[in-house]
Amino acid sequence: MSIRTYREGDEDEIARLLRECFDSFNSFGLTGEKWLKLFELDPGFRRDLAFVAEKDGKIVSHIQIIEREITVGSAARLQVAGIGNVSTFQEHRREGYSTRVLTHALKVVKEKGFPASALFAGQLAPAHTMYQKLGFTDMYLPVMLFRGAKAPLRCNNQVMSTPARQKVEIRESDERDDQSLLGIYEKNCSIHNGLVIRDKKTWKSKFRDSFFYECPFYEEESKPNSILVAETEEGEIIGYAMSCLAKRDKLGHICEVLTLPRREKEAGRPLAEQVISNLAKMKSLANMVYSSENTLIDQLFRKGSSPALGVIGGFMLRTLDIKSVLESSFHITPQTLSDLRKTITIQVSGGETVRVRLDEGAVSVHRSGEKGGDKVTFSDYGSLGKLLLGAKSFAELVSEEKVKISTSGAEKSELIRLFETAFPKKPILTCSGDLW
Ligand SMILES: CC(C)(COP(=O)(O)OP(=O)(O)OC[C@H]1O[C@@H](n2cnc3c(N)ncnc32)[C@H](O)[C@@H]1OP(=O)(O)O)[C@@H](O)C(=O)NCCC(=O)NCCS
Repeated sequence: MSIRTYREGDEDEIARLLRECFDSFNSFGLTGEKWLKLFELDPGFRRDLAFVAEKDGKIVSHIQIIEREITVGSAARLQVAGIGNVSTFQEHRREGYSTRVLTHALKVVKEKGFPASALFAGQLAPAHTMYQKLGFTDMYLPVMLFRGAKAPLRCNNQVMSTPARQKVEIRESDERDDQSLLGIYEKNCSIHNGLVIRDKKTWKSKFRDSFFYECPFYEEESKPNSILVAETEEGEIIGYAMSCLAKRDKLGHICEVLTLPRREKEAGRPLAEQVISNLAKMKSLANMVYSSENTLIDQLFRKGSSPALGVIGGFMLRTLDIKSVLESSFHITPQTLSDLRKTITIQVSGGETVRVRLDEGAVSVHRSGEKGGDKVTFSDYGSLGKLLLGAKSFAELVSEEKVKISTSGAEKSELIRLFETAFPKKPILTCSGDLW
């Protein structure tokens, strides 16, 4: 058996493998050509990170690494090697191919400097065990909700109760709105963790010129109603909703509904109602949405929806290098830190140890060596990941004994305050077009 990266000509066999392994790719009609197009449309897909295992010169297994940068901590970004399209031909399963390709891929991405790797996996899926064995831990569970296409919208009270400050008009957007839409997305990046960083180019190729309703599935031409905006009488765009009727299964995909902070009550409900009405007009068989706790989408759509059988999957994270993870994510505004001088040893029980030095606004991370300073010990990598993503607060982890602190009294309180500032608890969100 040999493992190598993609070579020109592999695409048809990779597409055949993916069609065999995933019903979704099969109904999408994945071909080698469509697979190659992904690399043009989504810069996160990299040919040099498409891995195959060969037996007797024939491809038997495949893994795609998708490069993403997600929001973590108070206002930081973490580059992750997203694992996708994990697949082995039926007749070669349980022979260790996926384990070997994944192990190899993780080694390569670590060498390339990726601090962490992340994936989505159904908790009941056979692959979940494999990911756990390879060091991935569950972070949170985005839930996929289905609702009947004609069911009226039943928002949670929080979104419904307060009367809107002013009336908004819902209209279809065009390219002239893109700057405002990206601005809204960026504002949401500071209040949610897990969101994938987008730039103008990606926005254009993935959401304006083509349309990704669920990565890696796309429609070639953008639908006229796929991005609606909520506009106030003064002409301010305060929210948008992306949706699409997938040709392959006639499912209405509600991909994202986002508003400016504190404008949810004005824009959320009218956008959601219009999206549902548009999808009904297009004769969607049912509508689906990925939802996670404490997000607007959850408030808008969870009530009256039936979750899909089980959860679609957990978001799993694996730290590849704790030093670069903390270098990326440990940020505090200089004001908070201006008079703080401190060295903290951060350790994962049975794993790596680093020293974080805070010096009047600057944070630096060093591989462990000298002793001294306060010591913070995480019981496992999963607990560290939950802190980075804001799924758990530092104080919660301490009270659950997932984190142990060497100091006590005022020093302990100061340390807790520091970590709570650097890693605040936040809702976690991944939009379906960015999934991998
Ligand atoms: C999941 C899949 C990629 C595994 O490929 P594989 O080459 O058979 O994987 P491995 O042989 O390396 O198996 C590794 C471990 O995964 C777990 N596993 C794999 N298939 C399993 C199954 N059918 N039932 C239970 N556990 C399973 C086992 O723990 C296994 O270790 P073991 O054989 O020592 O018990 C393959 O079954 C597949 O292509 N499935 C369809 C596509 C898919 O579901 N992909 C994952 C999406 S998240």
